[in-house]
Order: sequence, then structure tokens, then C-alpha cells
Amino acid sequence: MQETDFLQQIPKPCFLTVQLVQHWGGQAFLVGGLVRDWLLGNRSRLDSRPDWDLAVDLRGTGYTLTQLLQKLSQENNGRYVSHQQFLTGTVTLPNLRIDISHTRNERYPEPAVLPRVKPDGIEADLLRRDFTVNALAVTLTGDKPGTVIDPTGGGADLEARLIRIIHPNSFIDDPTRIFRAIRFAARLNFAIESGTLFLLRTAVREGYLRRLTPERVLYELRCVCAEATAFKILEAALKEGVLAGCFEWSKPKFLQAELDKLSRAGISGELLFMYLLSRLPVDSSFPISRAEQQVRLAIRDFRRTANRLRRAKRRSTVYQLLMRLPAPALEILAALNTGVIKRRLKLYLAEVSKIQPELTAAELLAAGVKPGPKLGKMLKKLLWAKLDRQVKTREDEMVLINRIRGRSG
Ligand code: CTP
Repeated sequence: MQETDFLQQIPKPCFLTVQLVQHWGGQAFLVGGLVRDWLLGNRSRLDSRPDWDLAVDLRGTGYTLTQLLQKLSQENNGRYVSHQQFLTGTVTLPNLRIDISHTRNERYPEPAVLPRVKPDGIEADLLRRDFTVNALAVTLTGDKPGTVIDPTGGGADLEARLIRIIHPNSFIDDPTRIFRAIRFAARLNFAIESGTLFLLRTAVREGYLRRLTPERVLYELRCVCAEATAFKILEAALKEGVLAGCFEWSKPKFLQAELDKLSRAGISGELLFMYLLSRLPVDSSFPISRAEQQVRLAIRDFRRTANRLRRAKRRSTVYQLLMRLPAPALEILAALNTGVIKRRLKLYLAEVSKIQPELTAAELLAAGVKPGPKLGKMLKKLLWAKLDRQVKTREDEMVLINRIRGRSG
């Protein structure tokens, strides 16, 4: 590795952090995925990273992590959050987020709960991590900044392209690592090392995923959907029974075929996440937003609307059937359906939903229509007529309005 290159790429606020820690007599390190990606030669990822991971060791200096976070945010016009019980914190600056943790060891009082942590040195900090390739650090302080610390053979596993856990209880202590192993393997195009795969399958079979809180399951699903290789990850996760391990749920037969259709349609990660919500038994204990819940229900309960949509003869009927469904649900449904249903969903999204009468409410009022429910009805009739091409021009619209007014007296 070109250490000096590496150090040159560190954003200025990170350098200031390092200087301050050095001045206080502590140590600072780059850690986590950043080091992994750099060693893999993935420069673009490093350059464009909006978040940086630092670990600091302030033991014996008389300073705390919170003091460091405070000072950094003050000096750089930023904000900070400190999670004292986990010894972690974040400084948010205009174009950069720096996650800073104190080097620590961790102990899991029972499987799948958050760990208890205690300050410790960098080696212990690396040994508590998920995979060898994520347990690499680069020194930023001391005599030889730029030195790689690799106590678990992460460098060799990067070369061999393997995801390997560091200790046999890893998936039991933290079953989110089951998602993470599959996610990193697909993202990096690595294999899961055979002993690790055996332990992953054992942890799934023994039901450890069911112990995760709904928040943590959703967080992992969001991370999966945000990946460029999300469909590949989901396929592997389904094959390993990961989703069936998290929920009271067995995989519907049609699921993989639906995922293939969504993949071919190139839908976004956010839409993919909402689709998954619609197929999983996500009850009220799962913290999803109102908008996500609305999309979820619209997809789940689409069958009746689909039957009516199939029979719809007019564009105004298509409009009325679909107007209350959220746009993300319509996009997902358009990708999932075929034939006439697909065509009508697409027609609605591309054309019908955008059509407006030329005349506005203000113009109708100016033409003497009284405000109130009648005005609303007239506007609707105008829209239906426009959708069904019964009126084309402004003049046609005015003729229609006058006809309705004449009729209703
Ligand atoms: N980590 C862990 N166990 C977890 C989550 C995280 O050991 N369940 C450690 C890993 O060392 C990981 C680091 O915390 O590298 C940071 O986690 P995260 O930001 O989720 O992952 P990155 O490896 O930085 O990956 P990304 O490129 O997605 O940011």
C-alpha cells in the first residue's frame, strides 16, 4: 500500500482530529470499511466517501471521547452526537460525517442484544469486530503513521476474497452479522469461507435471527436494499432462510419471480424495500413510516383494484381507480404486472395522472360559478371529460361548463 497516498486523502477535519488526539497524548486510527476498500484498491469509493470512521484511544490522557467530539464540532462549525454507553459518537460537518469510537472490547450479556463495552486498546477493538476484512486499522498517530494493523489475517482474506468471522460465537452474539456476511460477499464478490458459512447456517437453523428487535431487522433490510447488488443479496438471503428466520413467515412461491421482474424493471432500492414490506408480515411493532405503510397496503391489497382495472373502458375510470394509490406503489405494481393491467398502470403513470383541465377553479369562479361543493363537482366532470377526450380546447371546456350550469339551473 502507498501509505502516504492514503494519508493524503484524509479530509482536513479528520487531520485536525488526529492532531488534537496526538496533542492530548492519545492514539488515532482509521478503521472499518474504509481501510478494507482502500486495501482493495477501490479508490473511487474512498474519494467519494461522505463518512469517515476513526477510532481513538484516549486511555490515560485525562480526556474523554465526548470532549473530543465537542471540540471538533465547535472548531469546524458542526454538530455532534455522543453515545456514551457505546463509546461512540458522530461529528456532522457541512460535507462530511466523522464517526469516532473509542477503542474498546465488548461483551454480549446474551445473544442478539446490544453489547456492553469497556475502553481497551486497538487490538482488542479489532478482535471484537464482525469479519477479518473489516478488522483492519491504519495508524494515524505515533512514529509510523500509515502502518496497517491486521491481527486477524484480514489482508490475506482480502487477497483470497473471503468473508470470515473472527470468533465462533460471532453470529450468535450479533445475528445482524448473518445479513452482513451475505451483503458484503455479494457487494465485494467474495465467497463466505466454509467454516463461516457452516456457523451462519447453524445460527439461522437454531433461530437466533428471531431474537433481533424489529428495528434491527428493518435496519438490515434497508442496508440490503441500498446496495447495488441488492437482488443478488436477497436471492442468497432467501436461499439461506434468513427472512424466514426473522419473521413468522414462509417464503411465498411467487416471491423469486416477482423479484426477478423488479430487477428487470431496474427499480430503486427504496421501492424494493417497500415491496419487501408488502410481502413480509410487518406488524405495528415494526417502525415504518406512514408513507411506507400506505405503499405496503396498496401493493398487498391490489387484487380487487386489478380486476376492476382490467374491465375499465375509459381513461377516467382508470384515473378514478388509481388516483388514491401512492406513486411508489403504482411503479412497483407496474413492474410486477403483465398484459392489460401493466399497460393501464403505465398509461396512468405516464399520461393520465398528469392531465388537467385548462380551466382553473379561479376562472370558473370568475365566470360566475358559486363556490362550494358544486364547483368541486364541475371540476371533476371537466377532468373526466378531458381524460375521455370529450373536450379538447378551453372553448370546449367552457361549453361543457355552461351546459352543466344550464342543466343544474
Ligand atoms: N461492525 C461489526 N459488527 C457489526 C457492525 C459493524 O463488527 N454488526 C464493525 C465492522 O468492523 C465494520 C465497522 O464496524 O467495518 C463499521 O460498520 P459499517 O459502517 O456498518 O460497515 P463498513 O464496513 O464501514 O461498510 P460500509 O462500506 O458499508 O460503510
